[in-house]
Amino acid sequence: MQTLLLSASDSKTAAAAANLIMNGQLVAIPTETVYGLGANGLDEAAVAKIFEAKGRPQDNPLILHISGPEQIELFCHHIPQKAYDLAEAFWPGPLTIVLPAKDIVPKRTTGGLSTVAVRCPDCDVTREIIRLSGVPIAAPSANISGKPSTTTAEHVRHDHDGKIAAIVDGGSCRVGVESTIVDLTEARPRLLRPGGVTPEQLLEVLGDLVVDKAVTAQIDKDEVVKAPGMKYRHYAPSEPVVIVSGSREKAAEYIRSHFEPGDRVLCFEEELPLYEGCDPLSYGKEADVNTLSAGLFAALRELDDPSIHQVYARCPVGGGVAYAVQNRLKKAAAFHIVDAEEEA
Ligand code: TXA
Ligand code: MG
Repeated sequence: MQTLLLSASDSKTAAAAANLIMNGQLVAIPTETVYGLGANGLDEAAVAKIFEAKGRPQDNPLILHISGPEQIELFCHHIPQKAYDLAEAFWPGPLTIVLPAKDIVPKRTTGGLSTVAVRCPDCDVTREIIRLSGVPIAAPSANISGKPSTTTAEHVRHDHDGKIAAIVDGGSCRVGVESTIVDLTEARPRLLRPGGVTPEQLLEVLGDLVVDKAVTAQIDKDEVVKAPGMKYRHYAPSEPVVIVSGSREKAAEYIRSHFEPGDRVLCFEEELPLYEGCDPLSYGKEADVNTLSAGLFAALRELDDPSIHQVYARCPVGGGVAYAVQNRLKKAAAFHIVDAEEEA
């Protein structure tokens, strides 16, 4: 199959992409977080193609992308006021809400769960595709399962050229890490995945938030978890990644003394001079966490190279968007963290 590359700025793109979606095809769509691999979320056969293209485990549910809060009730029931409060505060934007699913949503889409995740992306062309196709678009991140997510059309082409009908090129994704996921199906709201909408912002609207264990620790394959995706290895380049925490100087001391040929260093732009001779790669500025979230996956993809032995990574500290960057890096490192202050 020839994969069409459609430009988001072309006025015919939304209609062409919507037609492909209505015909049961796969179309990669841009969003403000990462590119998604989209299909008609109500069409089991189309959804099955997503799992096949990604090599995704069948029990890992998909997010339904909708055009606005008014569509929530089409696919969910028992909707608490909190869901509308969140939508009002953060949609369109990087927030996904988990609610009880209506029967119209196929079990293939929900990975067999009785709940469904919905989100309204902050991307004009993608919302237009949803509106024109008349269906919710199920879309996981467009990467091959387990690999770092796709934040450019080129990343998607690399993973799926010849396997999907089209890619809508909307440029680089602004946020760069996937949406925040909040589960509203229990008595207390639960954070399943941190993202561009921060825990602090959520608390302001919800007044209460439980952080799921999967956010902060490695989950065992056999454990029962709220977000099935969390138990799988994620975002990982082919070689092991270790996070080195601690001050700039102590971390550089530790990394430089352990560094061997074939290793790489993933660091902040401010730290590049400290790693001369160690082939450092910067993913953004420590002083501007938004550049780190926007640059993380492109850097991890660049480091996905079998000739690399080991990656030493520097991770931002603190809350806000840094909390999401920490989560993705820790998962890429399978929670392997060395504290350079203790090692010194
Ligand atoms: O920013 C994003 O959310 C991107 C863009 C494309 O919208 N999508 C994305 O999808 O990250 P994906 O499939 O890569 O990650 C979705 C996560 C998975 O970990 C999945 O297990 C979880 O959401 N999830 C989906 N439906 C769920 C549900 N009903 N209950 C709990 N977790 C759910
Ligand atoms: Mg993903």
